[in-house]
Amino acid sequence: MSDQSNKYAIVFGSLNMDLVATVPRLPLPGETILGDRLLTIPGGKGANQAVALAKLGVPTAIVGRVGADSFGTALCEQLATAGVEITAIASDDSVASGVALIAVDTQGENQIIVIPGANGQVGQPDLDRLISRLPQANFLLLQLEIPLAAVGAAAQAAHQQGVQVVLDPAPVRAPLPLDLYPLVDILTPNAIEASQLAGFPVTDQKSAIAAAQTLCDRGVQTVIVTLGGAGIVWATAAGTIGQLAAYPVTAIDTVAAGDAFNGGLVAALVDGLPLETALRWGMAAGALATTQVGAQASLPDRAAVQTLLDSVR
Ligand code: RIB
Repeated sequence: MSDQSNKYAIVFGSLNMDLVATVPRLPLPGETILGDRLLTIPGGKGANQAVALAKLGVPTAIVGRVGADSFGTALCEQLATAGVEITAIASDDSVASGVALIAVDTQGENQIIVIPGANGQVGQPDLDRLISRLPQANFLLLQLEIPLAAVGAAAQAAHQQGVQVVLDPAPVRAPLPLDLYPLVDILTPNAIEASQLAGFPVTDQKSAIAAAQTLCDRGVQTVIVTLGGAGIVWATAAGTIGQLAAYPVTAIDTVAAGDAFNGGLVAALVDGLPLETALRWGMAAGALATTQVGAQASLPDRAAVQTLLDSVR
């Protein structure tokens, strides 16, 4: 990638402390099992995407909210260490920091419960800090771990200012307001999210393309459906469709693979690379994130992404 001066991404989203239990298999409802390890790792979809961008060399700020507690302090410190600009994170002494309870099995599958905490209090003061920074931004990344009203208002403000809006609709909340779709330039659901948003099952590439086209018809410019080991498909409002196979890696933990995908995709787009090349960056970053345990701990740097891309040419 080339020089990235004057290029800047903002993430408006969640910060969570992830409490990760590694387990031989995921428990059934009502079942108690013995786990192997407990790890405390910074996460949250917003924070993860900010770190993914920063590690790929994109100047990145995050706007969000943590509790005035030890998790909040640690989350901010980790972001700063990764190179993310953190001055727009509010510390809220009325609520605890967001926490995610995560179980990861030996196949790399996971279950996640998010307690939003401070993320659930994101509102107008946070929007004000975001809006004051939009004139410097090229891209705004959004997810759904903060209140939907705040996501909608942020998308509206960015759209009005010509800032590209990328929405990762996770955790999915269907139906999304119909007036949100035309404010979104790029929507990046996984198969479950695409299925719930489109209103029909997404079980293979054909149905994923149909879902992407359905969501484009609601006003999104580009919809990319991530299918894990089956790669990705996409559709655009201009009528193009495409698909790419996944990069072959040995996955041990898929937590934050979607965040890495979004970071890699936007890092390449910020640099002016064409969509298909940017999608390869996203897929390589996502694949690499599955080879390490943890959210921010698993996010690759530019050299690692470039090495994977070069190895499969
Ligand atoms: O996308 C992964 C993230 O989802 C985790 O870091 C966890 O915090 C949840 O928000």
